[in-house]
Amino acid sequence: MDSRNAIEVRNMSKYFKIDYDKSNTLKDKLLYWKRHKVERHQVLNDINLNIRKGETVALIGTNGSGKSTLLKLMTKIIFPNSGEIKTDGKLTSLLELGAGFHQDFTGRENIYFNASIFGLTRKDIEERIDEIIEFSELGEFIDNPVRTYSSGMYMRLAFSVAINVDADILLIDEILAVGDQHFQEKCYRKLEELKRKGKTIVIVTHTLDVVKKLCHRAIWLYKGEVRLDGDPVYVIDEYLEQVAKDHKEERMKALESGDGKGRAAITIDHPRDFSKLELSDNKIKFDGWALTDDEAADFIITLDNEAVEYELCKRTDVYEVYKEIYAGFIDENKIGWIFYRNLNDLGVGEHKLKVQYMDKKGNILDEKECQFKVLNEVA
Ligand SMILES: Nc1ncnc2c1ncn2[C@@H]1O[C@H](COP(=O)(O)OP(=O)(O)OP(=O)(O)O)[C@@H](O)[C@H]1O
Ligand SMILES: [Mg+2]
Repeated sequence: MDSRNAIEVRNMSKYFKIDYDKSNTLKDKLLYWKRHKVERHQVLNDINLNIRKGETVALIGTNGSGKSTLLKLMTKIIFPNSGEIKTDGKLTSLLELGAGFHQDFTGRENIYFNASIFGLTRKDIEERIDEIIEFSELGEFIDNPVRTYSSGMYMRLAFSVAINVDADILLIDEILAVGDQHFQEKCYRKLEELKRKGKTIVIVTHTLDVVKKLCHRAIWLYKGEVRLDGDPVYVIDEYLEQVAKDHKEERMKALESGDGKGRAAITIDHPRDFSKLELSDNKIKFDGWALTDDEAADFIITLDNEAVEYELCKRTDVYEVYKEIYAGFIDENKIGWIFYRNLNDLGVGEHKLKVQYMDKKGNILDEKECQFKVLNEVA
């Protein structure tokens, strides 16, 4: 193993066997034994990684992409089917909530139990137990059985132990997300401190801002492989783009197969409903915004039931609000719509503006209407 590395992963693959045996009773099992099927589910495929000593690294990827599995492999509570994982240094991990705790033991008893797993002697633990309890802020709850703890309380205890066992390598899975604002911030400050001290940290999280702030490096797992590995800002950008693309593909398939109906949102910013416009204003601007995830849908604007020509323009404000819901479908430069009219041409009296999105089957995805009045020129 290269002495600069804290973790080395070499040609490592991991699959799980999934048992499709749905029969519950013995009779079913006997009758249908031939239908019993075991399938391989390949989760990680030929992974190669070097994690340097002193690096803070994030593992990112969508749900089910294998992040937790990779951390468990690094922790050595599960093992690869092929290839290998080596670690150099004392390692501690924060995996699923409650893992490593005895439900009927108190928080205090669990500290002894948990810390001894990490190689601390009773004397070591006694020296630092006050610090551990203080960091956890569990107060008198520390003497209650952990089965009575909330998720946040579990996490407080687990994190406090993990940072006090003098590990060189700290592996953290998601778990911090269940902490309240105050405790989360405290944890991240602590991680910053450990990072400054040169510890190696591997963290799994969906909180991408944290990755950008805390990590030297981000590794993106996609379909069982390392898709990108490098500067967090770059990797996150590419990752989000792919998420949007996948989301788009899924929506398109649903729309094409008729399973889904498109979504759309439309707003008229100006004129507002029942506006009274002075003829003296002469030229008036009509504008608003519209978006949809059905690319085949028609966007139609009519003024007094006649279609008008419009221009599309940039609406960053709308983009920011809707970018997640319409991931992959919206181009911020083409959200706004705008056109001008001469009020003289419209004439004095009531008028109607209608804006709509209609899909190929004639369903109206969204529409907005507004009535306004053009007044006589004021003297
Ligand atoms: N013990 C297991 N037996 C069978 N399949 C498993 C097992 N553990 C994980 N898997 C499968 O492996 C895949 C990866 O799971 P994993 O928990 O590593 O994903 P993840 O990236 O941590 O996702 P999330 O963001 O939801 O936490 C999933 O499809 C999951 O169903
Ligand atoms: Mg996970």
